Amino acid sequence: MEKKRKVSLSGIQPSGKITLGNYLGSIKNWVDIQDSDEFDNRYCVVDLHAITVRQNPDDLREQTYQLFAQLLAAGLDPDKCVLFIQSHVPGHPELSWVLSCFTMFGELSRMTQFKDKSQRHADNVNAGLFTYPVLMAADILIYDADIVPVGEDQRQHVELARDIAIRFNNRFPGSFVVPEAFIPKEGAKIMSLQDPSRKMSKSDSNENAYILVMDSPDDILRKFKRAVTDSDSRVAFSEDKPGVSNLINIYSVATGKTVAQVEAEFEGKGYGAFKPAVAEAVIELLRPLREKSLELLKDRAYLEDVMAKGAQKARDITDAKVMDIYDRLGFVRRR
Ligand code: TYM
Repeated sequence: MEKKRKVSLSGIQPSGKITLGNYLGSIKNWVDIQDSDEFDNRYCVVDLHAITVRQNPDDLREQTYQLFAQLLAAGLDPDKCVLFIQSHVPGHPELSWVLSCFTMFGELSRMTQFKDKSQRHADNVNAGLFTYPVLMAADILIYDADIVPVGEDQRQHVELARDIAIRFNNRFPGSFVVPEAFIPKEGAKIMSLQDPSRKMSKSDSNENAYILVMDSPDDILRKFKRAVTDSDSRVAFSEDKPGVSNLINIYSVATGKTVAQVEAEFEGKGYGAFKPAVAEAVIELLRPLREKSLELLKDRAYLEDVMAKGAQKARDITDAKVMDIYDRLGFVRRR
């Protein structure tokens, strides 16, 4: 019998345009994992998660198309992975309800993202914002994912998904695979170009703080030239030089060079040479992605076809899983 392959699953929100942080911290790894041919891959655009903060419906729809096109442009191959939109697969919210009955109020109260977001959106601290990690646990557990490739900021949510799986398994043994976060050291946390103590985020009010995957080469160059660096001008990685260390990290992931190689390359050259070199490397890294996405976006019918096929494959897996969990809980089978 063929050995069952391990499963990799992840998701990304269509709540705005994606940044270099999203790309290096997650999407690039999804593509590498897919291409390693060692896993069954499931990746989704998590639109249900996005509505925990208010979205303009037209923008949300457009951003979902754009993000889907970018995932394809980045190299996700619908023949090699199940690529879909979360709201097309009703098993996710179905399982989420079940799991919410196995998640403690105290656990959700401790989530740092909830604390952050409820401060930032103090006028709209809705229940969805609070139970968001349960839906994320459902996204993961419904596919029996072994690994969850994410950036560092999602580690706590994956840990919670593990705890929920273990708790459910204690009551109903063998129900879920207990997943692990897959967070490669490089790229796991790309920091703001304006304040390197904070992560690069599209919700930053200063647009010089982040690079968007769809930024033009001129914008990318300008933003890197303005990036905050440290007082001396040595290109050296160290904890007390967070600005330049972030740029070294970005350059290293973009070019595949080690940190030591990057330091050697810019020995004695200073930031004046280094910043444009980082910009150039990022411009070349993102160029094919940007061009291919723009091309794909012209053909909505093709994108919708890929979405529909992905959703069908996802539903085949998740419908069976939800049935299995409902059986275990004691629900009468629906026919
Ligand atoms: P989201 O949409 O905020 O981000 C998508 C992915 O990008 C990573 N990321 C970063 N990585 C490195 N440096 C940064 N500055 C940076 N900013 C973002 C995130 O860690 C993430 O991997 N809750 C998730 C989406 C989600 C999910 C899931 C993920 C929903 N269900 C199931 C995995 C499995 C989120 O909001 O990611």
